[in-house]
Amino acid sequence: MSDFEAGISPLFTESEISNRVEALGRVISEAYAGQELVLICVLKGSFIFAADLARRIRLPLRIEFFGVQSYGAQTSSSGVVQITLDLAHPIEGRHVLIVEDIVDTGLTLSYLSEQLRARGPKSLKICALLHKPARMQRAVDIDYLGFTIDDVFVVGYGLDHAERHRNLPYIGVLTATP
Ligand code: PRP
Repeated sequence: MSDFEAGISPLFTESEISNRVEALGRVISEAYAGQELVLICVLKGSFIFAADLARRIRLPLRIEFFGVQSYGAQTSSSGVVQITLDLAHPIEGRHVLIVEDIVDTGLTLSYLSEQLRARGPKSLKICALLHKPARMQRAVDIDYLGFTIDDVFVVGYGLDHAERHRNLPYIGVLTATP
């Protein structure tokens, strides 16, 4: 194992993730058949998942980026979320799908959904790659889900610890920090 993987125990391999993302893309393509969809990639964690998912969706697609930053404890969202990058275009009257890497406490997504719903989309749904129900504080309806995980700290495939490990091609559990 190379240095950049030290302290990480693999959880989902590249091919497991790819198969799951392909299946999600198929279901989403069927659900919105004949319609245009706006995918909202929530930065930073979702950038890899959203890029892969977008290429598995067979629909006319627009892609928007939404940057958010949480304050509070290091390992969990405080629920006080600051918008660091807003959408480039309005979503009023459009079918919108929020793409998140992970739903942990649910505080970020619950804030995000509220913010975006107020902008009058025709529909608003959520696609999350990972869900960690053990730490749920705010119920979030996840319409399309990749995997449910235990209460472990995961990195890779866009997810970070202190901004590192986002470039790991698979998802792993952080077992030790340098
Ligand atoms: C992560 C993740 C979600 C949020 C989930 O973002 O990308 O947006 O935390 O946590 P919650 O359900 O407890 O609110 P983070 O704040 O780490 O920023 P990042 O995406 O830039 O890594």
